[in-house]
Amino acid sequence: MAQYQSFPSAAGDSRTLDKLKALRLPSLEGRSFLDVGCNEGFFCGFAHFQGAGPVVGVDHSQLFIDRARLRFPGCEFKQQGWEKLPEGPFDVILLASALHYADDQPALIQALVERLSDSGTLILELGIASSRKAEWIDVKRGIDERAFPSMPMLRQVLSDYAWKWMGPSVLQDGDPVARHVVHISRRRPVAYLLMQPPGYGKSSIASGLFPRADIPIVSGDEQIGLVAKGKAKVSEALRAAIMEGYSPYHLDQTIQRIFEQGLGGELVALWLGQAKDNDVALDVYVPSAYHGAVEQLLEDRGYLPVQLRWERVGQAPLPEAMMAEQAEAFYLSMLDVASDSRASEARRSQWDPAGFVDEVMVDGDQLVIRGWAIDESGALPGKILVKIGRRTITVEKIDRQLRPDVQRHLGLPHALVGYRASVAAPEVRTSADLTNGFKVFVRGGATFQLAGEVNTIFSSRTQ
Ligand SMILES: C[S@@+](CC[C@H](N)C(=O)[O-])C[C@H]1O[C@@H](n2cnc3c(N)ncnc32)[C@H](O)[C@@H]1O
Repeated sequence: MAQYQSFPSAAGDSRTLDKLKALRLPSLEGRSFLDVGCNEGFFCGFAHFQGAGPVVGVDHSQLFIDRARLRFPGCEFKQQGWEKLPEGPFDVILLASALHYADDQPALIQALVERLSDSGTLILELGIASSRKAEWIDVKRGIDERAFPSMPMLRQVLSDYAWKWMGPSVLQDGDPVARHVVHISRRRPVAYLLMQPPGYGKSSIASGLFPRADIPIVSGDEQIGLVAKGKAKVSEALRAAIMEGYSPYHLDQTIQRIFEQGLGGELVALWLGQAKDNDVALDVYVPSAYHGAVEQLLEDRGYLPVQLRWERVGQAPLPEAMMAEQAEAFYLSMLDVASDSRASEARRSQWDPAGFVDEVMVDGDQLVIRGWAIDESGALPGKILVKIGRRTITVEKIDRQLRPDVQRHLGLPHALVGYRASVAAPEVRTSADLTNGFKVFVRGGATFQLAGEVNTIFSSRTQ
């Protein structure tokens, strides 16, 4: 039988060394390798030389297999047709200059892809006939007549796989069709991820893109809403995390909590439940710290995660607490201005002046007092006095604090009734120093109630 592959000791019809270079193989070290139609084992020998293992060659010619075994004893060679392929899986499978011998070429490609490991590659070197139509063209060669696909036909045959044309292969004397190299792998379903925060336009972008491609969009907000309404089956832990302080207006906080509680995996499973291993777009806010985890969870489920990122257009809303503070301050500024006016007179008697001391803390030479108070207009009094023993001190600077709990309780129009006051009191070291007279009050107004015994509301940073 004629010599096909070329070795230093035996020149064959094929320029095998050049073909090896044209195949654009990935790194083979530590990878399993199968060559189908391996001939005298040149490519198996190379894979073994590169540290691949196991390396298996299959050819139906006993003669070629015998020669291959002699040349490369470190590889395993099987004399059998590709009708019966080794099970694998293999990280790299090679089918070079042999597809045209198959009775059913698409079926052989499919059988080989099925033997790939999850991220494996089928290296296909084949002749492609010249035609703009999707057709198989019978080509007369010196030795026989074989069917070769046109490029449009190859596209059809490979439409279920992920594949890339890698370039031309080497020509052989008398070749009637040009040879090409194509790399093929399993096609993974794609998960398009739109995980930016609320207000970035995720839903608008998703609806502009994916319906045209017939790709379903899963809305994270809708999914959480379904769980909240009891319409989606999830674990008790995930249900509890969703229901904790549930509000359809604060789903970002719900999602943050779910991930913080380690329930992100179950949430991803809930999103994918509808996708059924097909392409899907996920319009779901995920805190950026968990983007990597979501991508990994998707990869583990066989998806190819593709993240879409963009800058927010326009200004973000202020954080809620900051906005509340600004609004309260504005409201209070109007109360202050109105305090002399007649209108405020009517309001004056609405509340009984009151005050509380929630916490007393020694911080160095300072005594820090925290609580809330209102005057008859429902506002925090402008002047607070502190009596320690015989000494009465006017608090110079009062930090106003939001107390929505007091606002709710008293039905106040605003929550800025909390205070944090500091006075110099180097003589106070322990709670015992306050037992002989400690009072917080407004001159001519309320004396603030202590929220507990002095020793229970007292703490110290310096003791
Ligand atoms: C043109 S040679 C290519 C050899 C090698 N792949 C290369 O590119 O150097 C085709 C090879 O496919 C083998 N072959 C043909 N039909 C086969 C089949 N049904 N099963 C296994 N091998 C086959 C032949 O014995 C031959 O070694």
